[in-house]
Amino acid sequence: NIPEKVTIIEVGPRDGLQNEKKQVPTDAKISFIKRLKNAGLKEMELTSFVSPKWVPQMGDAKEVIEACLDNERNFVLAPNRKGIDRVYETDVKHVAVFVGVSSSFNKKNINKTTEESMEELKPIITELKQKGYFVRACISTSFYCPYDGKIDPENVVALCTQFADYGVDELSVADTIGMANPLESYELFKKLNDVLGDRLLLTAHFHDTRGMALANVFASLQAGISRFDTSAGGLGGCPFAPGATGNVATEDVVYMLEQMGIETGVDLPELHKAIQGISTHVSRKIESKYYNLNDKT
Ligand code: HMG
Ligand code: MG
Repeated sequence: NIPEKVTIIEVGPRDGLQNEKKQVPTDAKISFIKRLKNAGLKEMELTSFVSPKWVPQMGDAKEVIEACLDNERNFVLAPNRKGIDRVYETDVKHVAVFVGVSSSFNKKNINKTTEESMEELKPIITELKQKGYFVRACISTSFYCPYDGKIDPENVVALCTQFADYGVDELSVADTIGMANPLESYELFKKLNDVLGDRLLLTAHFHDTRGMALANVFASLQAGISRFDTSAGGLGGCPFAPGATGNVATEDVVYMLEQMGIETGVDLPELHKAIQGISTHVSRKIESKYYNLNDKT
């Protein structure tokens, strides 16, 4: 049942940096992305078109895109009409929209209820699909919400189905604050795979707040998931989700999968260089296990 090959979607340049208090120089972001691409990470969230008042770190999105866009799947996040209009000013062809299952979280993150966001996104997604864009939908608080607590899996399935009906190509289903356990991960992804697996790509997005992310990756693999969002160096976190620490580290996931004989296409020594390069620009220590190993054999 476990796949022979896994696709890693690198989210370090976006999720990894958006929560960084110190403004990371645009050049450092660009070198980071180029080194990650050198390491074989093809699918990547480059940046986001959000309000620079809300997330100043992403204020240089256009410059980052112009320097880094290639023919691979380069995602840019956009939460609303204004964000989509900014996408149209670039050559980006892969857009990621994002919504929380929890309305309380969605309010804090994008200042709308979940229902209001879905209303705004419906015609936007139709338009993007007509224009030939690849649309990914990131589903936040799919397990727990920092404001509302445990989320009913039925609500996640319902929101995901609504997005499938809108015509998105991919769902990235997220444990925003790193509270899911492996059994919950298995059960939700098994259910989503049964209901929607034939209609679109399903991706799992884990944060590692409580050290359960690698176990959750393994549990999701067993549920038939073969796409994972990960962040180089384990950087990450959403500024509007207290408790969202780093994403599961790309290097730890790649190491685990390769050790199990699962192909990722990622070169660990090159990835190491990318992390080393960005490490001097972030205020957090790089805590991933693999990065800190002295003997990386
Ligand atoms: P708002 O204040 O309600 O927006 O914020 P507004 O429509 O009233 O506009 C206010 C100002 O923002 C206006 O400018 C707009 O032009 C501007 P002003 O007239 O005051 O000069 N504006 C924009 N500027 C640039 N790009 C835009 C944009 N939209 C409006 N797209 C808004 C609403 C959505 C803008 C705001 O709440 C926002 O930017 N939120 C983004 C929050 C964010 O980036 N969160 C992190 C990403 S999600 C995440 O990390 C979770 C994920 O990793 C999965 C997981 O782990 O759960 C994906
Ligand atoms: Mg995230």
